[in-house]
Amino acid sequence: MPASDGTVDWAALKDAAEEAMTHAYAPYSRFRVGAAARVDDGRVVVGCNVENAAYGVALCAECGLVSQLHITGGGRLTHFVCVNGDREVIMPCGRCRQLLFENGGRELSLWTVSGVKTMDEVLPDAFGPDDLS
Ligand code: THU
Repeated sequence: MPASDGTVDWAALKDAAEEAMTHAYAPYSRFRVGAAARVDDGRVVVGCNVENAAYGVALCAECGLVSQLHITGGGRLTHFVCVNGDREVIMPCGRCRQLLFENGGRELSLWTVSGVKTMDEVLPDAFGPDDLS
């Protein structure tokens, strides 16, 4: 469990990811994932993976989380964690690090398999919105 930095209750955020994981639809990989993030206005958004008979179009848990972020008012992600079906912290895949970067930027804090890290550490020198201006 990472030390609280006073801005987030990591245990509660992981609880939210675990609850989201219970809704995963993963009949093909049987690898359930739940993700949770805190938003800069204090709300928490969640997602679970949703697979498909056409395997390649599976939606990662982070996809649902980002959709919920925008549906519920937008804002910036500040803290993130995702878990597997055994409630263990896992790393977001490369594609999902890009999704998280778009919506949280370099300062987003992630509870990772090796402690709390910033987005900049898990996706260094990321391509992002600034590169298009
Ligand atoms: N998965 C996620 O939901 N998020 C990740 O960051 C890693 C992978 C899902 C996709 C697929 O449904 C299952 O885990 C196995 O790859």
